[in-house]
Amino acid sequence: MQKRFLCLVSVILILAFSLSAFAPAAPAVQKKQVEVFSWWVGPGEADGLAAMVKVFNAKYPDITFVNAAVAGGAGTNAKAVLQTRLAANDAPDSWQAHAGQETIANYVAANQVAPLDDLFKTTGLNDVLPKTLLPLISKDGHPYSVPVNIHRSNVLWFNPKVLKDAGVTANPKTDFKTWDDFFAACDKIKAAGKTCLSMGAPWTAIHLFENVMIGTIGPDKWNGLWSNPPTTDWAGADVKKGIANFAKALSYTNPDASTLSDWQPASKMVSDGDAAFNIMGDWAYGYYANPAPNGLALKPHEQFDWAVSPGTYGVFNFLADSFVLPAKAKNAEGTNAWLTVAASKEGQEAFNPLKGSICARTDCDMSKFSEYSKDTAKDWSSNTVVGSLQHGVVAAPAWATKIGTAMGLFQASKLDDAAQADFQKALADACKSDGTCKK
Ligand code: GAL
Repeated sequence: MQKRFLCLVSVILILAFSLSAFAPAAPAVQKKQVEVFSWWVGPGEADGLAAMVKVFNAKYPDITFVNAAVAGGAGTNAKAVLQTRLAANDAPDSWQAHAGQETIANYVAANQVAPLDDLFKTTGLNDVLPKTLLPLISKDGHPYSVPVNIHRSNVLWFNPKVLKDAGVTANPKTDFKTWDDFFAACDKIKAAGKTCLSMGAPWTAIHLFENVMIGTIGPDKWNGLWSNPPTTDWAGADVKKGIANFAKALSYTNPDASTLSDWQPASKMVSDGDAAFNIMGDWAYGYYANPAPNGLALKPHEQFDWAVSPGTYGVFNFLADSFVLPAKAKNAEGTNAWLTVAASKEGQEAFNPLKGSICARTDCDMSKFSEYSKDTAKDWSSNTVVGSLQHGVVAAPAWATKIGTAMGLFQASKLDDAAQADFQKALADACKSDGTCKK
């Protein structure tokens, strides 16, 4: 009896074993992931992201970071790709968004992102973000994005040797109080056969424009252009003067600007000694100073130097990169992990020294930063702060697009008085179409 029983058990076991050998394999447990969308691909852009991803990978080894970055400075290509993905209900797990109107009048207004009250509580972010920044990422008291940095738009990069060789004695750090002061230096540089002001791909014209305008009309009147209703008249004499200065600044730029692939070639014209100046945000610092192959590994003050753009001493034209949580999060755990790293002191201290920006948090250890960033941090806490147009702070995207169209037409024009008047009218109309200016 015992023998028969043992025999039966063996048969059952053999059967079970051979059946399991033919059974389909159990599906492999899918690794958790987070797909993060940005435009940090190019030289001077990718290094910071890679450093923050390193922090992420160490903290969340069980979550795969998927880099969905799309190349193109200022996100010109990335934003178009993102819109297509959002329309197709295929949102990345988190995406780069500028603090200000780009986030509030766009992703928040369209209900594409979810509030982050819980994350702000768990990370304590509320207590370490500058009070100026919170309203730019919040609606009805709820925060909607995690700012990772503060960038400065109004930086005048220059090549000290080109200035010296051209006999420019004015010091950009103190002597360009007006655009006319700058143009006087440009005349000398032009006479020496060099480009005075390098410019890159089309979006960099708007970057230049905002800084010429601020340097001409001052921070209060610049803010007045964006208040609702505007207290600075888009059709008035101040804007007219700003446009005239801008037209003159364009006359000193390289004729092939619009054919350059992005902002980096224009920055490189300065460090190569082909141009004296370039006005670009401080992501250019990362490009100039970071080690090769992504950076040019140049020596500050010798191979490149910096001041603020003409007429903006004491003014900080700012923008901030931030990351959002999609309203319909596919991988909520992954997004939460990414945003936690983006919010953290460690994440920001890894990212910003390579990105050329300073932390959005107020408690970062500045000994980890360059001399350039230390200067910037001082200015950020003491200057008059205004918001960038090109980088999403002051204008809703639809309004900014109208300004971009007007800019394209203006650049293709003769830049003369008639073209300047047309440009000013187009700008005034753009404000009306946004609804902040009366018809
Ligand atoms: C800005 C962005 C910066 C930098 C720059 C150039 O819009 O905020 O982080 O990437 O574009 O691409």
